[in-house]
Amino acid sequence: MYDQIVDVYDQIFPLNQGFLDFIPPYLGDRGSKILDLGCGPGEYVDRISRRGYTITGIDSSQEMIRRANEEKQGTFYPYSFMDIYKLSETFNCAYSIGNSLSYLANDPFRAFLAELAQHLETGGYFVLQVVNWDKYRVTGSANFPIKTLTEGRTFHRRYEPKDDEAVIFHTALKTGETVEAAWSDALYPKYLEPTVTELESAGLEVTGQYGNYKKAPYSTEESPAMILVAQKQKIVAKQPLRRFLSWIARNFPDNGPLLPYFASERTEKG
Ligand SMILES: C[S@@+](CC[C@H](N)C(=O)[O-])C[C@H]1O[C@@H](n2cnc3c(N)ncnc32)[C@H](O)[C@@H]1O
Repeated sequence: MYDQIVDVYDQIFPLNQGFLDFIPPYLGDRGSKILDLGCGPGEYVDRISRRGYTITGIDSSQEMIRRANEEKQGTFYPYSFMDIYKLSETFNCAYSIGNSLSYLANDPFRAFLAELAQHLETGGYFVLQVVNWDKYRVTGSANFPIKTLTEGRTFHRRYEPKDDEAVIFHTALKTGETVEAAWSDALYPKYLEPTVTELESAGLEVTGQYGNYKKAPYSTEESPAMILVAQKQKIVAKQPLRRFLSWIARNFPDNGPLLPYFASERTEKG
């Protein structure tokens, strides 16, 4: 779909200033290296680049990347999420917003996170934003008002449950009553609990979970979005070991035999 909506993209998905206000604490110092995963036409890359960061955007849509290269400041590659192994550098911060990672199925998502962790500096952040899939799971519905675009066009969206793992995202671009183009793409809901588990298994400790860019706490019933902030740990321990260390830290805050070691390996939270 995205290759074909490049001309109307900004009308369907207008820039969210809230994200640009939210992200600075996670970017690090000016000049830090930033990665936008599923960057679309590159508007956020451009804005962050103009603030003095060295930023790379990747997107599987060739047209989005072509447009970004023509018009936006930053470095862009026509890569899918699973191509990030091709990036030769490490980043101080990576983010994926606009529900982009919902396009990735759960097995590849796990492999993707492991690869992403390799491309993050220790202490670097990963910010993930998707829609509130927990709410969709409970209510079985998502409210998508029809988007009115210029030149008599409208954009329509709806979800259709497929199976335990996927939801079909039906979209259509109309002029008046005429359907100009229609698409059906699989989305793979990212629920809070399994997503936190996957992040932590990859060595990315979840330091924040929010329901919007104003940092309201995430509510599975109410929030419009799920925003997770995760930080790369110095030691990527296996999941059972990390759970054990975390249990020690919680239950023996003063005397835990492993606590000094554990604490010394943890980095400052944002
Ligand atoms: C709703 S747009 C969000 C774009 C941008 N992050 C924003 O917030 O405006 C979703 C983007 O994810 C990209 N995308 C979908 N599947 C992808 C994949 N497997 N690898 C990389 N990008 C993907 C699409 O091409 C599209 O540009």
